[in-house]
Amino acid sequence: MAQPPPDVREDDCLPEYRHLFCPDLLRDKVAFITGGGSGIGFRIAEIFMRTLLFRDVPLDEILGLIHSRHGCHTVIASRSLPRVSMAARKLAVATGQRCLPLSLDVRAPLAIMAAVEQALKEFGKIDILINCAAGNFLCPASALSSNAFKTVMDIDTLGTFNVSRVLYEKFFHDHGGVIVNITATLGTRGQVLQVHAGSAKAAVDAMTRHLAVEWGPQNIRVNSLAPGPISGTEGFRRLGGPQASTRAKVLASPLQRLGNKTEIAHSALFLASPLASYVTGALLVVDGGAWLTFPNDIQSLADFSSFSAKL
Ligand code: HXC
Ligand code: NAP
Repeated sequence: MAQPPPDVREDDCLPEYRHLFCPDLLRDKVAFITGGGSGIGFRIAEIFMRTLLFRDVPLDEILGLIHSRHGCHTVIASRSLPRVSMAARKLAVATGQRCLPLSLDVRAPLAIMAAVEQALKEFGKIDILINCAAGNFLCPASALSSNAFKTVMDIDTLGTFNVSRVLYEKFFHDHGGVIVNITATLGTRGQVLQVHAGSAKAAVDAMTRHLAVEWGPQNIRVNSLAPGPISGTEGFRRLGGPQASTRAKVLASPLQRLGNKTEIAHSALFLASPLASYVTGALLVVDGGAWLTFPNDIQSLADFSSFSAKL
C-alpha cells in the first residue's frame, strides 16, 4: 500500500497560533472529542485548548493574560490507545491544558459508558461533545458488501448516536450541553463511490435536527459541521487527494483551494461556544463552496481505477 504523505502520517500541533476569537472563549469547559487523536479531531482539540504562548507576549502584559485562553480541557477518544495517548501528550505540552486520552470503539455502548464515567471522574463535567470519529474508503456500490456498508453506517451514524445518547443520559440531561457532529456534503448531490459514507453522514445530519428538537428543552444545542476537502488529512487522502485530477477539481471550486484543519477547528469552536448560543439544528458547511461545483460524475470511476491500482 502506498505511504500517506508526511502531513497525514503524523499529527503535530501548530508551531504558532494567533487567536481570532476571544482567547478565553471556552475557559474551564470540558470537551469530549471522538476521533480526537488524529486529523481534524486532533486540531479541534488543539484549538479548543490553545493558550497564548507567553514567549510571544511582552512581559508587562503577561499577568493580565494569565487566564487568557480558549481554555478548554479535553478528552480524546478512539480505538487506538497509543494514538490518543501520544496525541494527548503533544496537546498538553503545546497548550498547557489537560487532555485525557481514552480508548473506545463508538460501536460499543458499554465501552462508551465506561469512558464517559472516567471522563466525569477526572473533570467532574463535560460541556461539549464533538462526534468526529468516522470511517471511509472509495468503493463502487456494486462491489460494496453488505458488511462494508454496515461498517461505515455503524461507525459514523450509530457511533454518533451511541456517544450522544450516553452523554445525554450521564450528564447533558441534567446540565445541558453542546453537540457538534462532523459530517460531509457527499449525500447532498450524490457522489460516485461513496454511497456508504454519503448515506451515513446524511443520516447524521437528520439526527442533528431530531436531537436538536428533542433535547432543546434541556438546553442542549446540536449542530452539524460539514468540512470540504481538507489538506493533510486521512479522509482527503482516502478520497484521492494526492491525485492530479483531484487537485484540478479543487482549483475549479469557488475558493480554488483546499481547506485546512484550523479552519474546520475555528468553525467547531464557533458552534461549541456561546457565540452560537441561539444556533441549533443547523448544518454549517465549511468547504469553500466546493459542494456547489465539485464534479460527482462518472469520471471519478476512472480516477478510482487508476488510484486503487496504486494502493
Ligand atoms: C471495500 C472495504 C474496504 C475498501 C474495508 N472494507 N475496506 N470494502 N473497499 N477499501 C470492507 C471489508 O471487506 C469488510 O466487509 C467491512 O468493510 C469491514 O471491514 P473491517 O476492516 O473489518 O472494518 P474495521 O476494522 O471496523 O475498519 C473500518 C474501516 C477502516 C472504515 C474499514 O478503514 C477504518 O478503521 N477507518 C478509520 C479511518 C478512516 O477511515 N478515516 C477517514 C475518515 S474520513 P466484508 O464483507 O469483507 O466483511 C471520512 C471522509 C468523509 O469519513 C467525507 C469526505 C468528503
Ligand atoms: P481521521 O484522521 O482518520 O479521523 C478519524 C478518526 O476516527 C481517527 O482518529 C480514528 O481513530 C477514529 N475512529 C475511526 N473508527 C472509530 C471507531 N469505530 N471508534 C472510535 N474512533 C474511531 O480522518 P479525518 O480526515 O481527520 O476525518 C475526521 C472527520 O472529518 C470525520 O468525521 C470525517 O468524516 C470528516 N470529514 C473529513 C473530510 C476531509 O477532507 N478529511 C471531509 C469531510 C468530512 P482510531 O483509528 O484510533 O479509532
